[in-house]
Amino acid sequence: MSGPALKHADSHSAIHEAALNEAIELTNMLDNLHQNNQKEEALELAYVLVEQWETRTLAHADAEEEGLYKDLVEENPEVKDDIVALTRDHDLLRIIVSEIKQDLPENGINDAIIQRFQSLIIVDELHNEKEMEVLPDH
Ligand SMILES: [Fe+2]
Repeated sequence: MSGPALKHADSHSAIHEAALNEAIELTNMLDNLHQNNQKEEALELAYVLVEQWETRTLAHADAEEEGLYKDLVEENPEVKDDIVALTRDHDLLRIIVSEIKQDLPENGINDAIIQRFQSLIIVDELHNEKEMEVLPDH
C-alpha cells in the first residue's frame, strides 16, 4: 500500500475510513458480548480485532512511514514536525495494541481492555484528521 493512492487525500481518506469503520463495528460487537457475559465469544472476537488493527491500520502506518512520510518531508521540509507528531500517533497505536496482546492471555476480557480498544479508535480518528491536514491538495 503506497504510491499515488496515499498521496491523494480522497483515496487516502477512504482507506482510513474503511479500516476505522470496521474496527468500530467489531469493537461495538465486542462490547456487547462483554456486557452479555459471553466470555468465550468475546475473547475470540478480541483476537480478531487485534489482528484487524495489525493488518489494516498498523500495516498502513508502516507503509506510510516507509514511503509517504519521507516523500512529504522531502517535498516540503516545513512539515517535518507534523510528520514527527504523526509518527508518534502511530507509536501510540502500536503500544496500545501490544499492551492488549500482552493482557488478553493473562486477564481475558474486562472493562479495562474494552477501554483500550476504544482508545485505539479515538487516537486513530484524531491521527487521521491531522494527517489529512498535512497531505498536500494535489
Ligand atoms: Fe494514513
